[in-house]
Amino acid sequence: MPTIAVVAAVPVAVAIAIFQLYRWWRNSRALNHIPTHEFPDGDNSRARYIKDLKHLLETGYRKYNKSGRAFKIPIPVGGYSVKYRVVLPKDHLEEIKHLSNNVFSWQLASRIVFAQDYTGAPDRGPWSGKALRIGIHQNLGDITRKMDRQIDEYFRKHLPQGASSDSINLMKFFVPAIANITNALLVDHRLSSNPDWVSRTCEFAVNRYHAADEVRAWPPYISKLAAPLLPSVRKLRQSRAYVKKEMTPLYEQLKAQDMLGNGEKRNKNIGIFGYEWLWGGAPKGVTLQDFSDTMMRTLIASIHTTAKTVSVALIDLLTQPQYINELREEAKAAVRLDGSIDVDKLFRLDCFLKESQRLTPVFLLTMNRIVTQDYMFKSSSLCLPAGTMTTAATSAIATDPESFEDPNTFDGHRFLRLREQNKAGESSFKMGMATEDSLGFGLGSQACPGRFFAVNQMKLMLSKLLLGWDLTLEKRGVKFVGTRPEMEYYDFSVVAPNDYGLRLKRKFA
Ligand code: HEM
Repeated sequence: MPTIAVVAAVPVAVAIAIFQLYRWWRNSRALNHIPTHEFPDGDNSRARYIKDLKHLLETGYRKYNKSGRAFKIPIPVGGYSVKYRVVLPKDHLEEIKHLSNNVFSWQLASRIVFAQDYTGAPDRGPWSGKALRIGIHQNLGDITRKMDRQIDEYFRKHLPQGASSDSINLMKFFVPAIANITNALLVDHRLSSNPDWVSRTCEFAVNRYHAADEVRAWPPYISKLAAPLLPSVRKLRQSRAYVKKEMTPLYEQLKAQDMLGNGEKRNKNIGIFGYEWLWGGAPKGVTLQDFSDTMMRTLIASIHTTAKTVSVALIDLLTQPQYINELREEAKAAVRLDGSIDVDKLFRLDCFLKESQRLTPVFLLTMNRIVTQDYMFKSSSLCLPAGTMTTAATSAIATDPESFEDPNTFDGHRFLRLREQNKAGESSFKMGMATEDSLGFGLGSQACPGRFFAVNQMKLMLSKLLLGWDLTLEKRGVKFVGTRPEMEYYDFSVVAPNDYGLRLKRKFA
């Protein structure tokens, strides 16, 4: 005989099931008012999406965003709880750019984009972006000078110094170079001088992508079970534990000296490492896990992004050698008496980098956000229910002929002219400045907090290469003769130009 409890449980279970069904039905219709944009030939497979997202975004941008309408694209790669990305028109981006993580959240979006609940990738502490931005902004001069010395030291050890030429692979050179330089500025000497730590930091970003990719190859209900068995997921989880173990002494030391969550001491150098600014911006009760996850996220965010951008810029430069002389002359004029480089004098290089990033941004989509509460846009009355993922068609906007004349042609002087013609708003065209037309670093309050760090690092590396060596581009070890190649994308991310290399011959004055 069923007990009273069982009899009572049946209607409760039915009510829960009906409620869940209703929620599913309501959610599946919640974005019906936004048109779905798919590939016109009907092939909307995962493989097609991975290979051809750039084209999908460009056609959607022209068809909908240009007339002020949002469109949505399905996410066959990229998430389980969220089925679509809503691609917003430019004026809508303007409206949300200063809304905080509490309303349009990059933290929540990145959990989905990187399948974090499945892979166990580190979460982002909501405080870290602001702390990093303020810290970098306040100390950029000092940081850049230290960076200059680090780059000199690294290049001296790893690039040919004698009369004969030598060749390097771009990504294989820049990833560890940037990892070394960035670590020297972000962590204590004990860690930044530990080759095991530095080489592991080089793997974090690739590993996070692989883990997310492998997880997403399975249907969601299976991947929860399968994830812990996948080699890439296991490796990522081991790396996270490794970072936590290695960060423990630094955390304990900073805590003992009351340096965590103590903004007013931010600039006081207590000698543990160069810049305590990042940790000064941590919340008072920051845990070791949050502290070490934030470090890992920062390294993930900084190394491959910069390596890809600088590698692409070198390919752009060496396939268009007409720009080399002027950039070299400019670099020469920017050398200070002590041999360091004044990055503020690298005006032409800044414009060149900006054009290179315009045509080949690291990410096709930026400003990925999850709406945390129902939101209605003032400009259009477009309503987005809580839980919607929004984004911006970065690459499509950057090749809009209304914003950029002859947009698909590389013009290394484009931003030079734009800056000269728009003296009043000149600074908005600088590399690193985020605007609605220039979204390579995102936009607004959650834009990349490390962008000026990255820009100065790239400018220093490029000008030192131009000053110190004669450079020839190679592809798979052979001199590359040809026009500027178009880079490929995998999902929303540019494929690292792994085939390309540089032959360097030391210049002697
Ligand atoms: C050329 C190099 C770089 C590119 C293209 C880049 C691009 C981006 C983009 C597009 C975002 C998302 C912003 C948004 O959606 O509004 C972002 C976030 C972020 N970036 Fe960068 N970034 C670069 C270098 C760096 C560097 C050098 C650092 C640190 C020193 C850094 C730290 C971060 C952090 C902490 C976030 C927040 C997201 C997270 O915690 O995962 N980035 N970056």
